Amino acid sequence: MSTAKKATINTLQAHKLANEKFSMVAAYDATSAKLIEEAGIEVILVGDSLGMVLQGNDSTLPVTVDDIAYHTRCVSRGCSKTLIIGDLPFGSYTTVEQTLRNSVKLMQAGAHMVKFEGGTWLLDSITALTDRGIPVCAHLGLTPQSVNALGGFKVQGREPDRARTILAEAQAVEKAGASMLVLECVPSILATEITQTLAIPVVGIGAGAGTDAQVLVFHDMLGLSSHSPRFVRNFLAECPDVQSALKSFNDCVIDGSFPAAEHGFT
Ligand code: KIV
Repeated sequence: MSTAKKATINTLQAHKLANEKFSMVAAYDATSAKLIEEAGIEVILVGDSLGMVLQGNDSTLPVTVDDIAYHTRCVSRGCSKTLIIGDLPFGSYTTVEQTLRNSVKLMQAGAHMVKFEGGTWLLDSITALTDRGIPVCAHLGLTPQSVNALGGFKVQGREPDRARTILAEAQAVEKAGASMLVLECVPSILATEITQTLAIPVVGIGAGAGTDAQVLVFHDMLGLSSHSPRFVRNFLAECPDVQSALKSFNDCVIDGSFPAAEHGFT
């Protein structure tokens, strides 16, 4: 166990204030959770990416709240100091009431924070959750649950208007009470601007090196996935075992050597 203290939203906020990077991994079971914690990684996202990675679907849309609750329970049995984020899946947060009900299920399964995808339409839900003691991580940029509306898994925010909208939504989710923000597949320059504008930690994936933290999917960073998006680095290819690959990911995020320019978008 290399994590010195239990990670909380205060720990992550303190990292941002101190200009210290941190890392997060999307993982779904007790064994990987234990390895992740031992590598010193402070946050695990029980992401709806499990719909593609574990269930073999071609999108995250079929994932249910029960799936995320089950995997959150599995992850929480494998670690004790890691902050666990439960991802609300497609269709599970369409109203404030439904969002509260499903967030409670994930918190009772072992999550310490919930995440959902979207901006303006979620502001009331963000406030309702935070008022009731449930920390929220927002998710902007490429929001995979909207793959059909977006016309594919595409980089978001390249056009000036769309970039301004993403920045405005990031400011709005922070104002509504979000404790953290994931930015997925946006130009590095936009992610850096958003990170510098917000007081809350910003976690990037395909968003360049300017964010406060980085997240990758466990299976992707170990080269186990059938696809390898440009923003992924296979850490296992450079290391003798999974444990050292996870540690290398954490070290490279903290020292700023991952992501490199080639992992980002212009
Ligand atoms: O579901 C997931 O794993 C995610 C990350 C890729 C950010 O949302």
